[in-house]
Amino acid sequence: MKPVRCDRTPAWGELKACFEASGQNFDLREAFSRDPHRFEAFSQDAPHVFADLSKNLIDADSQALLLALARQCGLESQRDAMFAGERINRTENRAVMHFLLRNPPSAQYIPAQVAINKVADAQAEVETTLNAMLDYAEQVRADEAITDIVNIGIGGSDLGPQMAVLALGEFATAGKRIHFVSNIDGDELAAVLRLVKPENTLFLVASKTFTTTETMTNAHSAKAWFEAQGGHDIARHFAALTTNVAAANDFGITTTFGFWDWVGGRYSLWSAIGLPIAIAIGAAGFRDFLAGAHAMDEHFRTAELAHNLPVRLGLLDVWYRNFHGFSSRTIAPYSSALRRWPAYLQQLEMESNGKRVDQDGQPLPFDTSPLLWGEPGTNGQHAYFQMLHQGTSVVPVEFVAIKQAAHAPDDLPGHHGKLLANVLAQAQALMQGKVDAGGHRDFPGNRPSTFLLLERLTPASLGALIALQEHRVFVSGAIWGINSFDQWGVELGKVLAKDIEPRLQSGNISGLDGSTAGLLQRLR
Ligand code: F6P
Repeated sequence: MKPVRCDRTPAWGELKACFEASGQNFDLREAFSRDPHRFEAFSQDAPHVFADLSKNLIDADSQALLLALARQCGLESQRDAMFAGERINRTENRAVMHFLLRNPPSAQYIPAQVAINKVADAQAEVETTLNAMLDYAEQVRADEAITDIVNIGIGGSDLGPQMAVLALGEFATAGKRIHFVSNIDGDELAAVLRLVKPENTLFLVASKTFTTTETMTNAHSAKAWFEAQGGHDIARHFAALTTNVAAANDFGITTTFGFWDWVGGRYSLWSAIGLPIAIAIGAAGFRDFLAGAHAMDEHFRTAELAHNLPVRLGLLDVWYRNFHGFSSRTIAPYSSALRRWPAYLQQLEMESNGKRVDQDGQPLPFDTSPLLWGEPGTNGQHAYFQMLHQGTSVVPVEFVAIKQAAHAPDDLPGHHGKLLANVLAQAQALMQGKVDAGGHRDFPGNRPSTFLLLERLTPASLGALIALQEHRVFVSGAIWGINSFDQWGVELGKVLAKDIEPRLQSGNISGLDGSTAGLLQRLR
């Protein structure tokens, strides 16, 4: 079925009418008193993740219309086209097959196009590369002389691996410190170089393209530092993770792990870009991480839409953005290990769906990606939750809670119970509100939230949680009819920076606007 843009479907108009008739005045408190089974009806079990969606501004009617919208947009055929290896990233003429990186070798499922086009045997290539990468990870883990691993990369070559390494700290090998350097600000690299010794350090230069200015600048400086300190064995102390192996070789790095153009940067932590994760948690742990994601892939690929968690979340995102007009979503992981979860999701959602034209390049008459922001709980409570409870804008909150703490509860009695009490209380307070002494002390309530619950934060559950988010972004992007897999919006600033850099030296301001010229002169 050919995809249809959401605003051209009958369901779009019906959703508008539904919003005007009842959606805009929907009251969660009334909905719970009307329906004693609301929690069961609006919750969903998926691999490794339980989701309570019942504190969202939806009912059976709006949900049924959202599901109709998904069908009329051809969501299932769009999903199947991705899993069939079709070139759904049309502006870059690429397939989108990050799911193949976590497809176990035993699985029968191989994208039809890959088989038909005989683009080698992608699955076999994936497995060979994965085996080589994991062998290398084990070698590094066993090498006592290597105490520090410095990952140099930015965007998808930093955010995912960094988030996962922090999240899985409990599973990480002792004796290895993993540092992440992303910013072109030399202060960041300098701070790490002060901590490490060349003979004990492995630099991983992580860049899909091997051209990104930040990463190349940091990699050159790291190599210069290494050589200036007397280091000479580049093959032992530098490895490159890239689709551009030739450029890595030209740079002087011979230890390389490749991947493919059908892996988008923000979807690349399952590939060689995941090497820091594999070094941290080992080959078996990394395979568990992939297996958790694969279980979520299978759920997304096969569960009927009404019981498909990525679908339900993606449809809720469309309902909130396009009908309620909510422009942002707060990410609230109640886990300090997930402290980089909001930053990771920002790239995943906003670089994927921050688009203003459809697949055909036509301007969209509706909004797309919301703004994502957040901090771990309980910290956020003592910063911006005031605004969530009593501000003028409604911001849906996405909580993540973990039933079992990583630390032994007897070692630190009380902490985890207090943490869980807080996450439950915040979701409850947002919904229930409180009529108090009036004015300043009243809480309006009826503020929506989603509650994602994991039994434990493990490689498998983290893998599933990430894949859930990848697919949820796919769903809203498919409904909106946009290309979620390109990122042309990052290009202009890169080009202008190249023009400006020499002007900072020369002072040439010709052709610049008044503000840029004025600032440039002050910065010289
Ligand atoms: O500038 C955006 C971007 O292209 C991201 O999509 C990507 O994750 C990041 O830069 C890093 O790119 P690379 O891995 O090629 O260095």
